[in-house]
Amino acid sequence: MSHDKQVALVTGGNRGIGYELVKQLALNGFKVILASRDPGMGNEAVQKLKELNLDVSCVKLDVANQESIHQAAVAINEKYGRVDVLINNAGVYLDENEKLLVMDPCILEKTMATNFFGVYHVIRSFIPLMEKHGFGRIINVSSEYGEMSEMSYPGVGAYKLSKFALNGLTRLVAAEIKEDIKINAVDPGWVSSDMGGPSAPRTPKQAAESILWLATIGPEGPSGGFFKDGKQIPW
Ligand SMILES: NC(=O)c1ccc[n+]([C@@H]2O[C@H](COP(=O)([O-])OP(=O)(O)OC[C@H]3O[C@@H](n4cnc5c(N)ncnc54)[C@H](OP(=O)(O)O)[C@@H]3O)[C@@H](O)[C@H]2O)c1
Repeated sequence: MSHDKQVALVTGGNRGIGYELVKQLALNGFKVILASRDPGMGNEAVQKLKELNLDVSCVKLDVANQESIHQAAVAINEKYGRVDVLINNAGVYLDENEKLLVMDPCILEKTMATNFFGVYHVIRSFIPLMEKHGFGRIINVSSEYGEMSEMSYPGVGAYKLSKFALNGLTRLVAAEIKEDIKINAVDPGWVSSDMGGPSAPRTPKQAAESILWLATIGPEGPSGGFFKDGKQIPW
């Protein structure tokens, strides 16, 4: 590793937990790329963070669009030549009160396209930038809904399956990647964002703090795990 500033990329960084992850990473000395599918919202978020003198820039990235992911990877490779930390945070929750076999199948497809395939394609596109330097930390923002035990209860099937598959992807990729590249999944808890709603007990700041230790683990740190508040969750 060189002593240059490490570069971190956060998907869905324009609001909610993602915005707070960007802020905390920058406060901890990372050069942070805030990825947003809406460049207007992304630039607005970046301006707010620049007012705090934080080293943050914006890239357009729609995780449900492979061409958008590819273009973001090309642009970041040209400008920075590396991504040391990748946080797959972007996500949707579209089926709060739905039953899997009754809902419009489009809900399941859209949820998987963002929460599962989106992460898969982002990892595929950005891992070469990690392999180039033999170093990387990937964090997938999952959910307790992705635990196997959750599959025994009806409802929220699209979201649950997307996070269950995401946890499986995390473990499989960990088994396949080499060098000092680590990938883990994390449950941020129930968080007061647009997705979590105002009654949630955790703030985005608390959620970000509970996630970011995985960005700075050393070569002996875990890979392929699923964590909440620093503790491994069996799933
Ligand atoms: N909040 C909770 O209680 C909770 C609990 C467990 C897990 N999580 C997970 O934590 C992560 C962040 O959730 P949050 O609470 O911060 O949600 P949020 O406030 O609804 O924000 C979601 C973010 O994801 C982005 N996004 C959605 N689809 C996208 C796409 N196709 N491409 C790029 N960005 C996309 C959104 O962008 P736009 O602004 O453009 O829509 C937004 O920036 C998600 O993965 C979620 O599943 C949240």
